[in-house]
Amino acid sequence: MWTSWWLWALVAVCAGQTFRERAETIMRVTPVIDGHNDLPWQLLTKFNNQLREERANLSTLADTHTNIPKLRAGFVGGQLLLLQFWSAYVPCDTQDKDAVKRTLEQIDVIHRMCQAYPETFACVTSSEGIEKAFQEGKVASLVGVEGGHSIDSSLGVLRALYHLGMRYLTLTHSCNTPWADNWLVDTGDDEAESQGLSEFGKKVVREMNRLGVMIDLAHVSVATMKAALQLSAAPVIFSHSSAYQLCTHKRNVPDDVLQLVKATGSLVMVNFYTDYVTCSSKAKLTEVADHLDHIKKVAGAQAVGFGGDYDGVTRLPEGLEDVSKYPDLVAELLRRGWTEEEVKGALAENLLRVFKAVEKESDLTRTPEEEPIALNKLHGSCRTQYGYSAAPSLFHRPGALLASLAPLLLGLCLL
Ligand SMILES: *[C@@H]1O[C@H](CO)[C@@H](O)[C@H](O)[C@H]1NC(C)=O
Ligand SMILES: [Zn+2]
Repeated sequence: MWTSWWLWALVAVCAGQTFRERAETIMRVTPVIDGHNDLPWQLLTKFNNQLREERANLSTLADTHTNIPKLRAGFVGGQLLLLQFWSAYVPCDTQDKDAVKRTLEQIDVIHRMCQAYPETFACVTSSEGIEKAFQEGKVASLVGVEGGHSIDSSLGVLRALYHLGMRYLTLTHSCNTPWADNWLVDTGDDEAESQGLSEFGKKVVREMNRLGVMIDLAHVSVATMKAALQLSAAPVIFSHSSAYQLCTHKRNVPDDVLQLVKATGSLVMVNFYTDYVTCSSKAKLTEVADHLDHIKKVAGAQAVGFGGDYDGVTRLPEGLEDVSKYPDLVAELLRRGWTEEEVKGALAENLLRVFKAVEKESDLTRTPEEEPIALNKLHGSCRTQYGYSAAPSLFHRPGALLASLAPLLLGLCLL
């Protein structure tokens, strides 16, 4: 093949290509896969999800890190090779309220985005679909649901979200669910409730394995990270987390967890948010590269990816201000001596490997998990209790238990 990689490499050397030019050469055949983009949240907060509003037009959308021209920028010849996991994120204050409804609406707005801009986005749900979208020069678009509260402790909701296209679920956002603990447990701001994953939380993980939904450990506590890494039958991802060793923020991944990432063939997609990169309000592109270097050193080059958190954060490093800047980060990795192979891994191939392993492990013919969460684990005052027998609920309401014993006690006294 005249266009094989070694020829490109030879051409590159002979022509004295700059690192940026080499980055572009690589990115012509290997897409950027970003594990986490919050554009759908911007569409909700700015336009209440009304895509047909003039200001919401993605070709001209201003004041966001992501729009169509920025997605196209930096890709020579107009060729567009990109994949975004669009985040269907709803905040923790929806927990025990309308979390499920709002999650459905965020998935809907992602689907409508693909429909409104079919020349740019292709909504896909499989590794095969990703590869087809790339061949067509489109932004392969997948749904990641950010926060276990979005399933409202229901395996039925988990399965329904899978059928709507969810291909990763972040086990928690910045709040505990009744079955998994979040990172604020590690700062002391929240109390551990599940010591990682509860028995029901383990069922959620096993059911995600059965369905073929990637397990995302961004935002969870270290105990939850370890529990999920040990339990999952397939590799897992951190869709937008950086290295704790370089910035001791509890949202980041500590080195002992990176060892488990290495052992399980899992993946850390580095977050660009300055607060997670330098633990301060300022950062540079090279400091993001330091995180990529560190994870590569501890867990191997196959464990590294990009998870920019664009449109989900307020502060980004100098040089990585929006989604047009990925080629500069790739150039920096090349400057640091990363091989072409390693760079391609970080760009796309590591995520594709994990996704394919998750698909391979999935088996929809296997019997689904059926046992629901215990009624007494559920909170919120607007719940009905269909399907639960009334008896177990007596035992978590001490008042009710006493009341039911009262006639008996009274009877004893009368004797
Ligand atoms: C966005 O604006 C362009 C013109 O700038 C127009 O052609 C396109 O139809 C608009 N798209 C939507 C979905 O409104
Ligand atoms: Zn997040």
